[in-house]
Amino acid sequence: MDSYRIAVIGGDGVGPEVLTEGCKVMDAIAELAGFALEYERFPWGCAYYQEHGEMMPQNGLDVLQDFDAIYLGAIGGFGVPDHISLGDLLLRIRRGFDQYVNLRPTRLMAEELCPLKGVSQDEIDLVVVRENAEGEYAHAGGRLYQGTPNEVAVQTAIFTRRGTERIMRYAFDLCRHRDGKKRLTAATKSNANAFTMVFWEEVLQEVARDYPDIEVNWTHVDALVMNLIRKPQWYDVIVASNLFGDILTDETAALQGSLGLAAGANINPERRFPSMFEPVHGSAPDIAGQGIANPIGAVWAGAMMLEHLGEQKAAQVMMGAIEAVLREGQVRTADLGGNASTAEMGDALAAKATELMKD
Ligand code: NAD
Ligand code: IPM
Ligand code: MN
Repeated sequence: MDSYRIAVIGGDGVGPEVLTEGCKVMDAIAELAGFALEYERFPWGCAYYQEHGEMMPQNGLDVLQDFDAIYLGAIGGFGVPDHISLGDLLLRIRRGFDQYVNLRPTRLMAEELCPLKGVSQDEIDLVVVRENAEGEYAHAGGRLYQGTPNEVAVQTAIFTRRGTERIMRYAFDLCRHRDGKKRLTAATKSNANAFTMVFWEEVLQEVARDYPDIEVNWTHVDALVMNLIRKPQWYDVIVASNLFGDILTDETAALQGSLGLAAGANINPERRFPSMFEPVHGSAPDIAGQGIANPIGAVWAGAMMLEHLGEQKAAQVMMGAIEAVLREGQVRTADLGGNASTAEMGDALAAKATELMKD
């Protein structure tokens, strides 16, 4: 029986709450699906910082390197400035493990979950391929003359040919192999960012020559956020820079009903390093500790993790369970207008997944 070693970093706020449910659902089906999951839990996050002065140990990446995957809840918001908490943990792992693809799928599973009028179930089915290792998040810059009238802050976006080309190729390949519309949209802003975004479009068009079967278009990101509301059905694969992808994916999360539903995978496609799977949302301090967070984003991220590990059947079953529970509509957390707790939602998903696994 295959056995996978998973590093579990619950993190802060609702992070540990939602991961508990993700593990519950995976554990419900693992044996039936013929594999085992071996979790090792790491207490890293803001509370760890208060005690140790760092979000994770200096050798954190060495520790994580030997795992098959990393399952992360959420980081930030509990007495540690965000740029420190996220920079020292989440962004350090994404960059350090060259997880340059951030894959964020969106599907409308039940019509009434969509905040828009006239959009039917399954009509929204898109994926954002977000560049995850450079761009606006390159961590290049500095501050001078702090606290004086001459103060200067510089944050430089870095777009390399290697980094831009590889994310474009990944997006095109994904588009080619998806059961979608074979339509790739690039988020751009070349009207204002005359260096980076003009380059981004040039690389897009160069790479596009190798994919004549894919319909390619590019849209300034301001128009794109509007069009995603006007006609979300039109989109298939969207490729975006790090910052644009971040912003777009909170929007696409809302289109499917709630940020609590959205999942993401931080992937190192070459598998030189472990990939990391997490819900899109943050630590949600406003609802943390109440047991009411929606765990579906975390469960969906778990399904993406199993798919990455080669457990296609189990991944499909988990997605089937999410779809069925959302469509039946009996068990819904507060963000979806219901009153189920985080654990009740996890129980419902685990029961449904077990049922589907036995079919
Ligand atoms: P957030 O995603 O934590 O919350 C935004 C809103 O969505 C809140 O109203 C929250 O209650 C709601 N929400 C989030 N997850 C939910 C869930 N599972 N179920 C139901 N409702 C949910 O964003 P924020 O408030 O801007 O950030 C809070 C902290 O999290 C900050 O420190 C931020 O930097 C951090 N953050 C971390 C990550 C990450 O770890 N990947 C992602 C985003 C934000
Ligand atoms: C996300 C988050 C992170 C990001 C933050 C917390 C650094 O918003 O994963 O979407 O911007 O990538
Ligand atoms: Mn975000």
